[in-house]
Amino acid sequence: MTDWTIRDERPGDEVAVAALLRDAFGGPGEAALVAALRDAGAAPVSLVAAADDGTIVGHVLFSPLAVERGGVEIAAAALAPLAVDAAWRRRGIGAALCETGIGRCRDLGLAGVTVLGDPAYYRRFGFDPALAAPLLCPWSGPHLMALEFAPGALGGAGRLRYHTAFEDLA
Ligand SMILES: CC(C)(COP(=O)(O)OP(=O)(O)OC[C@H]1O[C@@H](n2cnc3c(N)ncnc32)[C@H](O)[C@@H]1OP(=O)(O)O)[C@@H](O)C(=O)NCCC(=O)NCCS
Repeated sequence: MTDWTIRDERPGDEVAVAALLRDAFGGPGEAALVAALRDAGAAPVSLVAAADDGTIVGHVLFSPLAVERGGVEIAAAALAPLAVDAAWRRRGIGAALCETGIGRCRDLGLAGVTVLGDPAYYRRFGFDPALAAPLLCPWSGPHLMALEFAPGALGGAGRLRYHTAFEDLA
């Protein structure tokens, strides 16, 4: 039994999600990114972790990502950001948000998911820096990871096109 559940973000959650993100990241950048993606209708998967009293204690967002390869565009998703309230960490909430969201992306028929973060955390969900190595974007490097839902779905050289809301972060 846990004293929290994962559910879709819904209207009315915006202020609490923004406060959570500002606290978790120590600044306004990620809250602004989430607001911009949400306002643009570019948040196909946005989940919150809610404590039993309704308080929002975690959030994750997956936005549309195009993998451009040889004139073809492959539909994928970018996981960003992920945050859990400091008082609620190390209980599996971050993992539940990631795993539920990844499952949603698979159900949407997407080819895979990328994330920029610490491989020590994200490898447990199947994210692999080697798979992302041939994928070019402003954040290419050892912290860019990819997970594909079928062998070869994302692999190989390509260019990642994030939603324009990410341009402020590049
Ligand atoms: C990263 C974060 C979402 C994890 O949330 P969480 O609910 O504590 O995650 P889980 O309970 O699923 O996993 C916790 C485990 O991950 C580990 N972990 C957390 N961040 C890690 C990191 N950057 N590198 C390696 N391990 C990490 C914890 O030590 C813990 O390990 P344990 O289970 O052996 O004790 C949370 O720490 C957070 O919000 N951090 C601030 C914002 C942030 O950095 N977000 C990620 C941006 S890429």
